[in-house]
Formats: sequence, C-alpha cells, structure tokens
Amino acid sequence: MRQGAGWQENPAKIARPPAFSTLAAKIEGMQSQENVIEIRNLSKVYRDFWGRKKVQAVKSLSLDVKRGEVFGLLGPNGSGKTTTIKMLLGLLFPTSGDITILGKKASDVEKNERIGYLPEESYLYRFLNADETLDFYGRLFKLSGEERAKRADELIKMVGLDQARRRQLKEYSKGMTRRIGLAQALINNPDLVLLDEPTSGLDPIGTREMKDLILRLKDEGKTVVLCSHQLADVQDVSDRIAVLFQGELKVLGEVDQLLELREKTEIRTGNLSDEAIEEVRQVLAKHGMTETSIQKPRADLEELFLRTVRESGERPGRRFTAEEMAATQPAASDGAETTTADSSGETGDAK
Ligand SMILES: Nc1ncnc2c1ncn2[C@@H]1O[C@H](COP(=O)(O)OP(=O)(O)OP(=O)(O)O)[C@@H](O)[C@H]1O
Ligand SMILES: [Mg+2]
Repeated sequence: MRQGAGWQENPAKIARPPAFSTLAAKIEGMQSQENVIEIRNLSKVYRDFWGRKKVQAVKSLSLDVKRGEVFGLLGPNGSGKTTTIKMLLGLLFPTSGDITILGKKASDVEKNERIGYLPEESYLYRFLNADETLDFYGRLFKLSGEERAKRADELIKMVGLDQARRRQLKEYSKGMTRRIGLAQALINNPDLVLLDEPTSGLDPIGTREMKDLILRLKDEGKTVVLCSHQLADVQDVSDRIAVLFQGELKVLGEVDQLLELREKTEIRTGNLSDEAIEEVRQVLAKHGMTETSIQKPRADLEELFLRTVRESGERPGRRFTAEEMAATQPAASDGAETTTADSSGETGDAK
C-alpha cells in the first residue's frame, strides 16, 4: 500500500537469449542504481583520546535503501542511528565497511549536493532571520539570487513560517527551529533527504504537516531516510523500517508486512443494532469464530487534537463537551462498529 510504485522483479533473474546480454547488462546496471544507499558490513567504534575503544556504536550493518522509498531507522537511545546517518554523509569515518550513496562513496563530498540533511539538533545562525538563513544556505549551493529568493519563499511557506520569516532564529520556539531546519535541508532540492528526529519538538499539527511533507517528498520521487522515536509517525509514513539495537540490525522489512496481524480479520461497518450484532455473532459462530469482539472503534488522540484545534479556530470562545466531540467524529469512522475475529479462537482486540 505504502510501497513506492514501480518496483519490479529484477530482470536479471528472467531467462533471456544471449543476444540481449549487452542490453541486460545495462538494465542490471540501472537496477543497482535503484539502491540510493548501499551499506555493507558497516562498523563504527568510537575511541577515547588515547585511541582505546570506548563504544562500538554500529556493528556489521548491511542494508539498502531503494530509490523513492521512505525508510525508517528505529532503535532505542544510543543504538547507532545518528552515527549511521553521519557516516552516510561522510561527517564520520567508518571503522570498517563500505557505503555507496547516490552511486558514490560516502567520503565523496560532491554527493552531498544532492542530499538534504536535518540534523538531530540544528546548528543555525541565531541572529539571522528565516529569509537570511535560507539565502545563506542557497549561496553555499551556488544558487542564483533569483533562484534563492524563489526557493526560500516556497520553503518558508511550505514549513508554515511565513508569519515569522523576519524574526531572528534566536526568538524561535523549538518547533519553529525544527521547521526552519527542514527548510534549510531542502534548499538544494535534494534527491535524498536524511531526517534525524524530524518530528521532535513539533506539536501534533506540526507533526501531521511534517508527515504530509515527507509523503509529498516521496511523491516528488525523492528518497527519505528518517530516524524517530515517534513510532506512530514512522508507521504512518515509512515503506520499510530497520530496527537497531546496540548498533546491530535486528529487524528489517516492509511496514505493512511486519505489522499485519495474520491471525485476525477486521470488518468495519456503519452503526449496528443489538439485533444485527447478535446475528453477526451467529454467522461468525457458524464459521467457528466463537470468541468474537464487536465494539465501537475509537478515533485516535491525534485526530481528536487536530479536530479540536480546527473547530476552535472556526468557533472561538467555545468549549466542547466530550459528547459533542464524540458526535462530530469524522465521516470515515462515523458510527462504525469493528468486528475482530481471531482464527486461533481468542478474543480479538478490536481498536
Ligand atoms: N562523539 C562520540 N564519542 C563517543 N561516543 C559516541 C559519540 N557519539 C555517539 N557515541 C556513542 O555511540 C552510541 C550510539 O550513539 P548515537 O548517537 O548514534 O545513537 P542514536 O541511536 O542516534 O541515539 P538517540 O536515539 O539517543 O539519538 C552511543 O553509545 C553513544 O554514546
Ligand atoms: Mg540520535
């Protein structure tokens, strides 16, 4: 569902007449370019002042990131996510292993012209305003004056800082700083975007906007790698994820596949009467599903928060009761009942 469109069987696997071998070799070459990042046996040991081993931050990591996908890098604090991203950018040297990124070695700084990077903590000039900041970074990428002005204007509007564009960054809140950091990361219209904790410090509206923006970058054909502790956010936007633990790769795969509950079936429908529910139960029982949970689904807190903010804007000075909020649930889940039947016979935990 979330998987980027157009991934096909590797044509190299398909039997072909020898006459096509040159063409096939070319296609094979193109296919390997479909990996925007290739990491092989990557390790990083941080050493102390005397060269003694202090921490092994990354251990024999191998993984690929495909062109056009959103790839989520997860793991507890200190599991090596930031270290990996810095090695991709060539900001840190690996102790061993290889990285190919956009067809080049990680140490080749030329490739960084096609990469956008949002660091864990932005190091921006506090005395510049948003326009000046983007103009400064635009100059680093040798954009023309006209291009810089156009791009800065687009990006400032895109990250929702239009009202604050003339204020110095030292006055910015945490979330505003994150937004200008993202605009800065996109100034060079990069093919690959590396986002280290993109939603940290953002309110739920900012978080939703950031997620929409990540999906927009994907629609534009860009590849996005993000690390985050906000698992729901990662789940919403990522095609594939990797989970690191103490520098080692523990899980790698497609989100949809990893999270699918194969033993359960969920049915969503409009509001059902008690009588109808009883009939549904009987039908399910006929198919051997005796332990069935049928209940009202819940909207999530993000949805409630966004709705409250939207309705508060439309009706200032109003306070909403719990009943009103429940009554104004979005159409998609309006009055829906969720039925979960468990093929193992246990009670399903419908949402
Ligand atoms: N400059 C450094 N010198 C020594 N050790 C470091 C350095 N940077 C990171 N480390 C160590 O490397 C390990 C991995 O750190 P890293 O910052 O990559 O983790 P992370 O997964 O990004 O964590 P977080 O979720 O907290 O951002 C940690 O044990 C950390 O203490
Ligand atoms: Mg980190």
